[in-house]
This record gives sequence, structure tokens and C-alpha cells, in this order.
Amino acid sequence: MSRVRVNLSERSYDIEIGAGMLARSGEFVASRSRVSHAVCIADANVVSPYAESVEESLRSAGARVARLTIQPGERCKSVAEAERLWNAMLAAGADRKSVVIAVGGGVVGDLAGFVAATYARGLAFVQVPTTLLAQVDSSVGGKVGVNLPGAKNMVGAFWQPLGVLIDTATLATLPDREYRAGLGEVVKYGVILDAEFFAWLESHVAEINRRDAAALEHIITRCCRLKADVVEADERETIGLRAVLNYGHTFCHAIEAVTGYGEYLHGEAVAIGMMCAARLAASLGRIDQSLVVRQRELLAALRLPLETPSVDDDALLAAMQHDKKVEHGRLRFILPTRLGHVELVGDVAPELARAALRS
Ligand SMILES: NC(=O)c1ccc[n+]([C@@H]2O[C@H](COP(=O)([O-])OP(=O)(O)OC[C@H]3O[C@@H](n4cnc5c(N)ncnc54)[C@H](O)[C@@H]3O)[C@@H](O)[C@H]2O)c1
Ligand SMILES: [Zn+2]
Repeated sequence: MSRVRVNLSERSYDIEIGAGMLARSGEFVASRSRVSHAVCIADANVVSPYAESVEESLRSAGARVARLTIQPGERCKSVAEAERLWNAMLAAGADRKSVVIAVGGGVVGDLAGFVAATYARGLAFVQVPTTLLAQVDSSVGGKVGVNLPGAKNMVGAFWQPLGVLIDTATLATLPDREYRAGLGEVVKYGVILDAEFFAWLESHVAEINRRDAAALEHIITRCCRLKADVVEADERETIGLRAVLNYGHTFCHAIEAVTGYGEYLHGEAVAIGMMCAARLAASLGRIDQSLVVRQRELLAALRLPLETPSVDDDALLAAMQHDKKVEHGRLRFILPTRLGHVELVGDVAPELARAALRS
């Protein structure tokens, strides 16, 4: 078992990572809070067996447990679903001492976290992420929220969990595409923050592709540590440091928007976006071609898509103008200067961004 400590003064918490951790849920929660009443909010796809084993463990630790199930998919990350959960929690007798346990991927984590942050002005909250993306990214850092019909993640809060419990064994049932999409974000951490980790990924492709338990524990532990370092330095995204996590994401968000969300999983679009960003960095003379090649080869070995889809480049450019990082109409990107280091680069000429869309 590995442990990552997230240091945020009185909001500090642990992330525990290993195979078979679900059976330790009761002990994990009880050692951090009095847990007489728990509300388990679970994705319907993981109720059996994962939420069930979490609940059994909580009951053995003496808690009364209610379960609320949400239907899988991004559509559930809505105000309407949050309202349904608030009412269901009231009906289940939740009060200020109840603990919310989120079991599922990033959708459940964001939604249940938002419900926990708002119900009775804030309840203790534990994340039990079951997708690779949630284990390396969304469960760490305290961003919770729901979508509005016209804007993703527009309503939310910073609400740090009491702890995060990661059972790598849950990844055994994750569909292949979802697993690979999570690997897109894993490669991102190597490029932006950790050259040694990137090299480790290159030399462990076979283990990663067969979901080897030791490799998974290493990857998840390293990614959580790297994200925790960023979050510790910029908890509420006020000094801009957290923006390094957006490497590849300006291109990615444009691809997701233009292909109409649903064509690509987020992590797949991240892989394509990182290829665009690497080409852009090379064309600006910030990195040499060998880094573009290394990144491409690692992503290809992990069977992620690399090519920008054949859509209208003008539409992609227009979508990029809507990115959060655009200032006064000038494009800004997070770009590497070497493996393991990125910088925010302002005032990029749109023609260069356009040229970087395709190799
Ligand atoms: N809060 C943050 O900092 C942050 C960061 C990144 C992403 N996100 C959010 O995360 C969400 C995406 O999360 P996701 O990729 O985990 O998607 P998801 O929660 O939709 O899960 C993907 C699919 O996998 C299924 N699933 C989950 N665990 C499984 C398992 N162990 N076995 C089999 N199937 C399983 C789910 O039912 C779902 O169909 C988005 O809403 C995104 O905005 C949040
Ligand atoms: Zn992302």
C-alpha cells in the first residue's frame, strides 16, 4: 500500500493506494471521522461489487449506510441530479454528521462532492475513485461541481475530501477505452512535471498495457503526488500554477467541442491535444523534434489516438478562442521547454496554432 499526503493545513488529507483497499473503507473512514451515518453515492455500473464492499466495510465499522445510485454518464453531472440527491439525502436522514462516500469515476466524484459541499453547508466527504482518470486526476485537488447545459463544470466549489481511497483492483473491469483515456492524463504528468516518470512509463509499456498491479500502484501514486504538489502550491487556482495541468487542453477542448462531445473520451482528446501542443512548442523553437517523437511513440505504444480528426481547422481555431486561457483575443498555451517542465506562453500567433493542428 502507498500513501500520498496532501498538505493543505487544516484541510490536509491522505490518499491511500493499493490492491484490495475497498475492504478497508470502514477503517479508513472511521480513523478520520466519527462515522455513525454514511451516504454512499455510487455509479450504477460499480454498485456490484465495489460500492457493496465499501458499504459492508462501513457497516462492520459500525456505521448506518444509505446508498444513492446515479445513472452512468456525464448527463448526471447536473443541477437537477444534485437536487434529486439533496432530497434523497434528507429522506435518508442525513445530517451535519453524515459522511458522503463517492464510489465511481469523475462524474460521481464531482457530483457527490458538490452535493457534500452544499448539503447542510458542507459534509465530510470521501472519494473512492474507480476509473483511472479519477484515480490520477479528478479525485485529487478538491474541485467539485456540476455542468450547466451550456458550460461544463460551471457551478461548483473547492471542497477537499476527508481522504481518498484508491483500490487499483477496481481497474480490472474498466473498459479498454476508458483505461487508455486515463493513460493520456498519466503521460501528461510526465511531460509537464517529471522526466524520470516519463522514462519509467516508456520502459514499462508492457506492464501498463496488461494492467499489472505493481505498475498501476506506482503510476497512480506518482500522479497523485505530482498533482498534490501543484494543488498544495495553488489550492484555489489563484496564482496560475495549477494551469500547468492544462497542457494539451486548449487543443483538446477545441477538438471535444468541434466533434460534439462524445466522439472522443476526454483523455483521448488530451493525447491528440498534447501532440498539437508539442508541435507548437517545436515550431516556436522551445523544444526540439526529438521530444515530439518521444511523446508520440509513448502515446502510440499506449494505443492512444494521435491525429487531429478531419474537421474544419477554422472551427477548431474559433473554439480555441473561447478557451479560458485566451486573454484579449491572443492565444495562450502551456508548452514544454524540456521534458518535465512547462511554461505558460502568451501571445501565440493563430497561424502557428493552426499549423500545429496537423503533422
Ligand atoms: N474535479 C476535477 O479536478 C476533475 C478533473 C478531471 C476530470 N473531471 C471530471 O471527471 C469526469 C470524467 O470522469 P471519468 O473519466 O472517470 O468518467 P465517468 O465517471 O463517466 O466513468 C467512465 C465510465 O466508466 C464506468 N466505470 C467507472 N468505474 C468502473 C469500473 N471500475 N469498472 C467498469 N466501469 C466503470 C462508469 O460507469 C462510466 O460509464 C468529467 O465529468 C470531468 O469533468 C474532474
Ligand atoms: Zn484533462
